Amino acid sequence: MRTQVGIVGAGPAGLLLGHLLHRAGIESVVLESRSRTHVEERIRAGLLEQGTVDVLTETGVGDRLHREGLVHEGLELRFDGEGHRIPLTSLTGRRVTIYGQQEVLKDLIAARLGAGAPLQFEVEQVALHDLESDYPSITYVHEGAAQTLHCDVIAGCDGFHGICRESIPAGVLRAYERVYPFAWLGILAAAPPASPELIYARHERGFALATMRSETLSRLYLQCRPEEDLAAWSDDRIWAELHARLAHRDLGSPVKEGKILQRGVTAMRSFVVEPMRFGRLFLAGDAAHIVPPTGAKGMNLAVADIRVLAHALQAFYRGRGMGLLEAYSAKALARVWKAQRFSWWMTSLLHSFDGEDPFEHKVQVAELDYICGSAAGAMTLAENYVGLPLALG
Ligand code: APR
Ligand code: PHB
Repeated sequence: MRTQVGIVGAGPAGLLLGHLLHRAGIESVVLESRSRTHVEERIRAGLLEQGTVDVLTETGVGDRLHREGLVHEGLELRFDGEGHRIPLTSLTGRRVTIYGQQEVLKDLIAARLGAGAPLQFEVEQVALHDLESDYPSITYVHEGAAQTLHCDVIAGCDGFHGICRESIPAGVLRAYERVYPFAWLGILAAAPPASPELIYARHERGFALATMRSETLSRLYLQCRPEEDLAAWSDDRIWAELHARLAHRDLGSPVKEGKILQRGVTAMRSFVVEPMRFGRLFLAGDAAHIVPPTGAKGMNLAVADIRVLAHALQAFYRGRGMGLLEAYSAKALARVWKAQRFSWWMTSLLHSFDGEDPFEHKVQVAELDYICGSAAGAMTLAENYVGLPLALG
């Protein structure tokens, strides 16, 4: 089999790339190791920057997002039992939208299959070959049959645990990493949101976040230990902890209880590899970098990488040579590092670190106070949170 761009992974990165290339008249094949049901039902991130919403809208996959997404113009920081609103939109002119990652994936999958473009689920034994030549290929097994896909370029969009990054010979990539001494215990509950806007709470017992998926579905997170055993968390204990950490000094807890539909523990890590390329293999999204979820950047960064990569591939196929593809890694990384910095900063600002000394605690609260009390401080948070501009150049 032959295609122009072989895409490994049908997460936000791989599916958006396939979609943008299809619209530009460039052929691709998307290969995904999991089932369609698994991809469409796995609950992950949920906050879209305006730039992410814009690209989905402009390319015809934004209808349901506009019907069902919840538009937010501010967020709340809560510390020392008080709430402080950061007016994102009046500061930046931009808005963010709550719409589950798996909903974005459903829309992209429907668009791709509707257009008759190739997308294969449950592929096995994916391996990459001849990455340093002009004729790379992907071998895999699908429905019991061995396949070879010859391509011009391969996009490694297979997430943090995929095989693409691992296919690059040792010594080529440099990895930068920070593992945090805590994780997030997340639940999805059949309960109205605690508040119309997200609440990020700093509390001595640990960080908590109240977000949502709809008017009737809450998504709530609690800082926990990295090796936390979910079995030790009864429903009552989860709710008690959420109430305690999110409570307002005078108004009490805003958290509304409901049936817990799903629960899980998410590790917290910052990770980047440089460069995001080896020969004809281009890494994008979680395959190249991970952020802790505090800044809500993971999916948005994957989308930004893909916009840069799709633009470079269009130039390549219009006969403008390899120039923009050569520049892809540096261009993507400049934005990746800014989002890394922001995600690390939000994480450091809001979590309690084990054995934290009282000095650090005081400085953390002073910094939160500064952000909420100064136009410059609030703007620093807001312009990063809504997403820094992306110039494709
Ligand atoms: N072959 C084919 N597909 C693979 C392989 C493989 N060997 N290994 C992994 N995959 C698939 C995974 O099953 C997954 O569906 O690649 C996809 C990668 O998707 P994501 O992990 O969602 O990564 P990405 O598209 O980069 O999106 C990043 O996802 O993890 C969240 O918070 C993160 O929101 C961010 C976003
Ligand atoms: C979510 O809605 O799941 C969400 C929102 C904001 C974050 C992290 C997760 O910072």
